[in-house]
Amino acid sequence: MSATRAPGAREPAAPAAALAELLAALPFACAAYARDSGRLIAANAAFEAEFGQLEGHRQRERLLEALHGCGANVETGGEVRAPHNGRWYALYWRDAGQAAGVGALLLTAVDISERIEILDSHKSRQDKLLFTSRLMSVGEMAATLAHELNQPLAAIVNYLNGSLRLVQQSGGPAQVERALLAARTQAEHASAVIARVREFVRAREPRRDAQQLAQIADTVLELLRLEAERQQLRIEVDLGPSLPAAYADRVMVEQVLLNLVKNAIEAMREVPADRRALRIEARVNLDGEIELRVLDRGKGLSPAESEQLFSPFFTTKTDGLGIGLAICRSIIEYHEGRLFFEPREGGGSVFGFTLPPAEGRT
Ligand SMILES: Nc1ncnc2c1ncn2[C@@H]1O[C@H](COP(=O)(O)OP(=O)(O)O)[C@@H](O)[C@H]1O
Ligand SMILES: [Mg+2]
Repeated sequence: MSATRAPGAREPAAPAAALAELLAALPFACAAYARDSGRLIAANAAFEAEFGQLEGHRQRERLLEALHGCGANVETGGEVRAPHNGRWYALYWRDAGQAAGVGALLLTAVDISERIEILDSHKSRQDKLLFTSRLMSVGEMAATLAHELNQPLAAIVNYLNGSLRLVQQSGGPAQVERALLAARTQAEHASAVIARVREFVRAREPRRDAQQLAQIADTVLELLRLEAERQQLRIEVDLGPSLPAAYADRVMVEQVLLNLVKNAIEAMREVPADRRALRIEARVNLDGEIELRVLDRGKGLSPAESEQLFSPFFTTKTDGLGIGLAICRSIIEYHEGRLFFEPREGGGSVFGFTLPPAEGRT
């Protein structure tokens, strides 16, 4: 550093230059704007590269206008999608005091496009799972309806045939014969519709092969991570070091685990944060089945509630559908396993299921 420079010779340019130097050292796009005039005082290369193309970026007002329309809060910043390059930025506006020689506001823009993309893809994946669950409940309902309606429809057709024969043999009124024929046509049509529904439900054959529960748990926890964070929930996973693979349809078992963990999280909404702990554990049980258990510290269930637990449409939630556990049970039973509930020692619930091991079946 030269000691001979005349004191004050670089004023007032020196602070702005120092600020520019400082901005150049920062790893994000940064720019300083004069508080009064709103004009750009200094910007680093990252800022020029990312916002140089944005028309009006040299004037704070115009920059805000361009970004504000995309949801940025003028005062403090926010997450915006920049219109000129389509990327997502977290914007932070901070008071830089007199660092630039004049009152200045400092803008930092962090590119968060990747994070947003990951969140989006999770969301669509979660939507897909929820869709599968809805599809399966619709499928179940359709299968039940088809089964329930098939018998009476067949009986109706038989009765109509019988009546037709009687009317024809006895030379009964032609209107009655016509009415009976029309009724039979309608009943046959209904049977055909139902046959198609059964065909559709059957066509969704699940695919079973060797599945690691650890992978299934990973997928599910990844989907619920945001929700768990929001609730400040601790999640402990202990699947043992050498759990054998299960013979299962991956998507279906993901669905079951998702339902159970969601229920567990929902059950702990009201309990104090320090008691909110969720545990997932697995082992090979005495029957040689793979057994997974989800343990929560929620309010648990009364004996009366636990009796109805798995029946469709049983819910104690104002926003509940009550089909989650019913679907879980039919999925697990399809896998020749068992879905069970037991009270947890020290408070809360344990929901678990068993699956057959893959060994010898694939
Ligand atoms: N972990 C749990 N702790 C306490 N109660 C539970 C738990 N899981 C399920 N339940 C009870 O079982 C009911 C049915 O669950 P579910 O079939 O998933 O439907 P929904 O979640 O839509 O109510 C819930 O409303 C709740 O009363
Ligand atoms: Mg549920």
